[in-house]
Amino acid sequence: MKVLVTGGAGFIGSNFIHYWLDNHSNDHLINFDKLTYAGNPENLEDVTSNPNYEFIKGDIAQSADIKEALEGVDIVVNFAAESHVDRSILDPAPFILTNVVGTQVLLDAAIQAKVKRFHHVSTDEVFGALELNSDKKFNEETNYNPRSPYAASKAASDHLVRAYFTTYQLPITITNCSNNFGPYQYPEKLISLAITNLLENKKVPVYGDGLYVRDWLYVEDHCAAIDSVITKGKIGETYCIGIDNDISNIQAIKKILEILEMKEDKIEYVKDRPGHDRRYAIDATKIKKELGWKPKFDFETALGKTVTWYKENKNWWQKLRNKNFENYYQKQYILRNET
Ligand code: NAD
Ligand code: DAU
Repeated sequence: MKVLVTGGAGFIGSNFIHYWLDNHSNDHLINFDKLTYAGNPENLEDVTSNPNYEFIKGDIAQSADIKEALEGVDIVVNFAAESHVDRSILDPAPFILTNVVGTQVLLDAAIQAKVKRFHHVSTDEVFGALELNSDKKFNEETNYNPRSPYAASKAASDHLVRAYFTTYQLPITITNCSNNFGPYQYPEKLISLAITNLLENKKVPVYGDGLYVRDWLYVEDHCAAIDSVITKGKIGETYCIGIDNDISNIQAIKKILEILEMKEDKIEYVKDRPGHDRRYAIDATKIKKELGWKPKFDFETALGKTVTWYKENKNWWQKLRNKNFENYYQKQYILRNET
């Protein structure tokens, strides 16, 4: 099989490429990535000499780029996106260009290339927010109610993917996953930012009261879930992925402090995120029952592995905390708190 992964130089995409090459050694895999601030070729340094791996620099929103790359491709796995909620609040435009227009351009090219499968990687944020003190969870029947520019752009992309199935019979599948953490995560998301700040002896900025809840899943489990949908999932269907583990931000940070043997004075409460979604939780019964997927890693074990990875790979993340990162950090954490 010839597999084209878009956004493969990012966090989940690069973990997925490692996973796929390990588990499908006869496939030829093309990584198609624009290399934005979040795309990092170093994530894949160890596979560049693998004859089954190829890299193409390109933009999913540019049809000429993507048409050429799709020649002879059987399976498309679409990870390419602007992915950070806080950046979407500072500047929504790139989110619409890549996540909405880019997905549409990619879908058109996939039809022309007659791909056998178009798998779209999406998020639980499309469903909106749950109450803190409830046992409700999102599932495949939950109505869409996106509340940030990022979530709205991903919701639009999901609708487009489904519309191309209904209208043009493009053989699609979609997954909506909860928050991921693990190796190669750009140090702007809560867990990667917290670990890297602490390793530099800086404080961890916690938004609002810190009691926001997420269903943290180790990235390798997400990759295995996508594999099971691509190999065993039903065309036209959506599958929700999560670990059934409500964890508040403050609990997650305290766990990291405990692993690093640091004190709680490293926590700094800062101004809240506008429109902050209180709680996400996923009911993953469908993928478990129909496809036999289940997570391998519990939160604490995976968090320990992740902290160790960032400790052992300082070279990887220290380079990313450069001038551009500092500019973003100033805007997001310093200037915003002064107003
Ligand atoms: P990321 O920001 O780490 O990586 C995104 C990648 O896409 C980067 O390599 C970037 O260069 C590339 N890219 C951006 N615009 C592009 C374009 N126009 N053309 C080609 N490549 C482009 O993101 P991530 O956290 O790895 O997320 C990957 C996907 O998974 C996204 O679609 C995201 O919505 C979804 N998702 C993420 C999470 C999470 O917790 N991180 C959870 C569920 C779903
Ligand atoms: O739920 C899936 C989504 O998870 C993905 O679709 C997104 O791509 C991914 O970025 C993530 O979105 P979140 O907004 O939930 O993740 P983030 O790591 O930005 O924030 C997690 C929680 O931590 C959230 O309640 C906001 C809070 N937070 C975040 C940062 C960056 C803080 O308190 N301080 C911070 O500095």
